[in-house]
Amino acid sequence: MKHSFKFFFLFLTVILSCKKTETKDCDDSLSLYSKAEFPIGVAIEPYDLLAGTRNLEIVSRQFNSITAENVFKPNNLHPSQNTFNWTEADEMVNFAIAESKRIHGHTLIWHNQLPPWMNSFEGSTGDWEQIFKDHIQSICHHFKGKISSWDVINEAFTDDGNLRNTIWKQNIGASYLEKAFLYAHEADPSALLFYNDYDLVLNEKKRRAVIQFIKKLQQRNIPIHGIGLQMHISIIHPDNSSIAEAFQEFSELGIKIHLSELDISINPLSKSLNLTDELLEKQANKMAIVSYHYQQIPKSLRYGISFWGHSDAHSWIRSFFNREDYPLLFDDNYEAKPVYCKFYESL
Ligand code: XIL
Repeated sequence: MKHSFKFFFLFLTVILSCKKTETKDCDDSLSLYSKAEFPIGVAIEPYDLLAGTRNLEIVSRQFNSITAENVFKPNNLHPSQNTFNWTEADEMVNFAIAESKRIHGHTLIWHNQLPPWMNSFEGSTGDWEQIFKDHIQSICHHFKGKISSWDVINEAFTDDGNLRNTIWKQNIGASYLEKAFLYAHEADPSALLFYNDYDLVLNEKKRRAVIQFIKKLQQRNIPIHGIGLQMHISIIHPDNSSIAEAFQEFSELGIKIHLSELDISINPLSKSLNLTDELLEKQANKMAIVSYHYQQIPKSLRYGISFWGHSDAHSWIRSFFNREDYPLLFDDNYEAKPVYCKFYESL
């Protein structure tokens, strides 16, 4: 990146960070999505829908787009070859419809959270293509007209920019990627189709590979409408100029950009932690930077910012990485944190 650009971003960072986090105008009886010009989403679990809970109150008031944190994944929706389990997913969809919220489907094809039968399936290339197509199309048909968009493929690239060696690549070949988009589109032509992955801001090599992949699909008229940047980031990484650069590069593709799983770790190095106001302030400032650069994307390409949960108490970061952390907008007692307030201000 040119030096003048670097200076600009440094200057911007200083300005945005110096603006003190004001909590006086920020109380969580306000609503993020009512203020925003783009959808504000959250990943939820079935317990978030329990009547009378603070979880439900937060989801309902703050967010107008819903992603299921787990219930739409293959192991939950498709537990055996001829069985689909729609119950919990339908409950979420019905909730979203009743509250006029958008539902984003996550995820049709992935290498994790697969049902055992799929992982151990044996058959010819044709048999594999059949179960692959049936999986995608049964799910897309079931939710047709109710779900706005799908993460068709999740995390198909490795950190060094190669195609991950998943069961789908092994048994169908690299063409599984474009086939997934074609099959999903055939089953639900009005759903918007996304490719979703992590570290696309931090890791330039991976970003280049994904951009090439999307361009290739576009050149061949394969329906792809958006990129999901997961954004499991931290107060340290990625640096602010990379955020600007990555958002700019993806907007140049002319597809929608969904910050699909945002959380901001304050303990990325898994140290023993003393949760200070300074750390919370750093988290709030990082959020302001993300929000600022997101709002530089042309409006028609902003699919929304979705958080991977609401309260720190339930964040996947703690259990998955086994560390103390506070990556979300609400604290363990469901109180709004400085990061919530700064985000609200930035909208
Ligand atoms: C995570 C969930 O949050 C956890 O509850 C589950 O145990 C593992 O998966 N990238 C993704 C998400 O695309 O599906 C992951 O969700 C987090 C990383």
